[in-house]
Amino acid sequence: MNAMIDLRSDTVTMPSEAMRNAMRDAEVGDDVYGEDPTMNRLEQRAAAIVGKEAALFVPTGTMGNTIGIKLNTRHGQEVICEERAHVFDWELSMMAWFAGCLARPVRAADGVLRWSAIRDAIRPDGPHCAGTGCISLENTHNMAGGAVSPLDVVEEICHEAHQRGLRVHMDGARVFNAACALGVEVSEVVKDVDTVMFCLSKGLGAPVGSMLAGTADAIHQGRLYRKRLGGGMRQAGVLAAAGLIALEQMPARLGQDHANARVLAHALEAIPGVAIDASTVQTNIVIFDISGTGMTPAEFSRRLKERGVRMNGVGATRMRAVTHCDVSRRDCEQAIEAIREVCAGVASARA
Ligand SMILES: Cc1ncc(COP(=O)(O)O)c(C=O)c1O
Repeated sequence: MNAMIDLRSDTVTMPSEAMRNAMRDAEVGDDVYGEDPTMNRLEQRAAAIVGKEAALFVPTGTMGNTIGIKLNTRHGQEVICEERAHVFDWELSMMAWFAGCLARPVRAADGVLRWSAIRDAIRPDGPHCAGTGCISLENTHNMAGGAVSPLDVVEEICHEAHQRGLRVHMDGARVFNAACALGVEVSEVVKDVDTVMFCLSKGLGAPVGSMLAGTADAIHQGRLYRKRLGGGMRQAGVLAAAGLIALEQMPARLGQDHANARVLAHALEAIPGVAIDASTVQTNIVIFDISGTGMTPAEFSRRLKERGVRMNGVGATRMRAVTHCDVSRRDCEQAIEAIREVCAGVASARA
């Protein structure tokens, strides 16, 4: 049987041959002593590429966000984020657990948090409420179908926030996808935020790792928080070696994933029982509604799996397909065929 076509997430990619070779050959040292040359190179390159003073390697995006929120807040403050943000829904209430902060979620139907919505959610310090400390932006927005925040929207938020003494963190797990969709350098996308976390292990294809970038002072402090979280790694250059390849070579190919996602979305528009507006698909995430098929996401997933395609449900009626470097255009065409079969099978069984 052919290998499964895995559209569950862009986290499922396997390290390339070049990454495996680089990992094997990596020059390493004890990174807690700052002596791992490959790790030092990765952190310097990451900082340069995103245009910040310094960067820190963290094992996961969740740890990067956890440290980012902590750096930008004081215990007892609020953090404004979009209602479906990863930091709010999927990180085990890390804001409360590590930073001692409360999330103040704000709904943005298209996943793009705008200043007008944020302004109303800001709470002043005082005897009646906990003041806002920081705004966390997710770009691209995972659960909003990979939505990209326009540059001027981020710029306005940062400008207004900074004027009020508020900080801005960007959960940029897929910020290279955002840069690709906007047709700009990633440094342009993150230029005004105080800290940015981005994942090497998603669209960029590394096996493990994320980066947190910001000022030298913030990253110095962040390194101490990472140690406290148990993230002081030793000969981590083996991971950094793959991370360097992810950083240098992979952003240039993200457009292919976006084109594949659009192909999927356009084909889905024509399948009875499936609802999607393909024009909203900007990057590598395609979320579509299957209420019209009468199937639950679990049933839909199971039937797709029988046909060699893996895909997860999100919520009660929707599926999410994520394109990445291990799915080709041909794989996407096969996935479309499988979805057509699954939908046709149910339509005829229920006729
Ligand atoms: C938007 C976003 N932020 C953060 C993360 C967390 O990354 P990790 O799984 O490496 O902790 C994810 C993971 O899916 C994500 O989609």
